[in-house]
Amino acid sequence: MDGEKKKKFYIHTFGCQMNFHDSEKIAGLLSEKGFSEAPDGEGADLVIFNTCSIREKADQKFLSELGRIRKLKRQKPGLRIAVAGCVAQQMGQELLKKAPYVDYIIGPQNLHALMGISPVRTTEDMPRLSIAENPELASMELPAARKKKPFAWVSIMYGCDNFCTYCIVPHTRGREVCRPWESIRREAEGLAAEGFKEITFLGQNVNSYRSGELDFPGLLEQADLIDGIERIRFVTSHPRDLSEGLIRAIGTLGKLCEHIHLPLQSGSDTILARMNRRYSFADYRDKIEKLRRQAPGIAITTDIIAGFPGETDNDHEATMDALKEIEYDGIFAFIYSPRPGTAASIFEGQVPDSIRKRRLNEILALQNDITARKNMSLVGTVQEVMIEGQSEKNAARLSGRTRTNKIVNFDPCPDSRKRIEKSAPGKVVNLKIIRAGLHSLDGRFFTEDGI
Ligand code: 5AD
Ligand code: SF4
Repeated sequence: MDGEKKKKFYIHTFGCQMNFHDSEKIAGLLSEKGFSEAPDGEGADLVIFNTCSIREKADQKFLSELGRIRKLKRQKPGLRIAVAGCVAQQMGQELLKKAPYVDYIIGPQNLHALMGISPVRTTEDMPRLSIAENPELASMELPAARKKKPFAWVSIMYGCDNFCTYCIVPHTRGREVCRPWESIRREAEGLAAEGFKEITFLGQNVNSYRSGELDFPGLLEQADLIDGIERIRFVTSHPRDLSEGLIRAIGTLGKLCEHIHLPLQSGSDTILARMNRRYSFADYRDKIEKLRRQAPGIAITTDIIAGFPGETDNDHEATMDALKEIEYDGIFAFIYSPRPGTAASIFEGQVPDSIRKRRLNEILALQNDITARKNMSLVGTVQEVMIEGQSEKNAARLSGRTRTNKIVNFDPCPDSRKRIEKSAPGKVVNLKIIRAGLHSLDGRFFTEDGI
């Protein structure tokens, strides 16, 4: 009897956008196999942890969740547990030994293994361990069950060849492989036909994309032609691969949004060299100047690591100076976390925890002032905002994003005849910015717009 009921799955995702998009693919694959989703986990027969190992904290969060699910499995022996993502890849067999109650280990290059899962457990089931290197990934079209309509992520490349010395990604997601444009185009056109309005191209290092003759600016030019898609974004870019062509594309392509996430990591050339970033701060600054010349008003965000091995007070000051000079719209800053198997984890000069934390706090405090100031400068301007839906904090309000990726919360349109039309997710509305905080702006419809 039990075997005839539709089995339910629940996915717990940790980490970056790449992982969240992989979870959409996992959900898509499982739906094709006859599973249905238990959105809050209630009654799930299959629990999947899609894990992240970029920093130790993320790792630990997952391991504590895994301990909890073990207890649940004791109460419900039929429960199946899968571990996907970067921890799965990194630990592999060792995880099966440590946690024998885990049923499946699925590395990020092996999501397709789920095609073999049986809704009822049989001897025909998929293997327990799927972590082989899989360069075929780029030519696989895995169905994604997307929830965030009208915004869609689209993978254009997988893996990374850069081997920044702190980073575990090349070890878990494998070598860089690019998806052929035809396959990307099919997916993007399909999304447009389904009513998606905004596409974010995803890759660990998107701007090194190349497939045959087509490079990343070429891909963006092609994508700009797709009817129905109104906004295009991409993450994440490596400063070394930010070409003149890409800078030009950002300045000229109508659908390409004026925002770039360009991880600097450190403002010190000594540290950048030890990180194997292969650019100097002067190279980076030069590219930022060109970007700002080509696309005035472009928002620039970055990632910073505090307390990389060997980082002196002077190196840290160089990062602080870089933040003051560039004036980012926002940053993600992290305490350096040694990752097993990476070059930097055995570098000399590991920085004590207390100093790493102090530097992180200094970085965050400085950037908060800059972000607040930059956001304040938008008060009084009119911004094109694409509506996402209800505001998170107040369901009576709406929320959307500017082209520069800033969140704007606002009251529904005061004109009742236009209210429904001007509340629809995916609709672009003009709003006057009336207040600015650190994490969001407040906007309102204004009379000059006919309201
Ligand atoms: N420690 C701290 N931060 C890291 N990142 C990557 N690896 C580490 C690490 N070992 C940060 C980088 C990267 C972002 C995604 O995570 O800043 O750009
Ligand atoms: Fe990691 Fe560097 Fe590749 Fe980014 S570019 S994923 S930081 S190795």
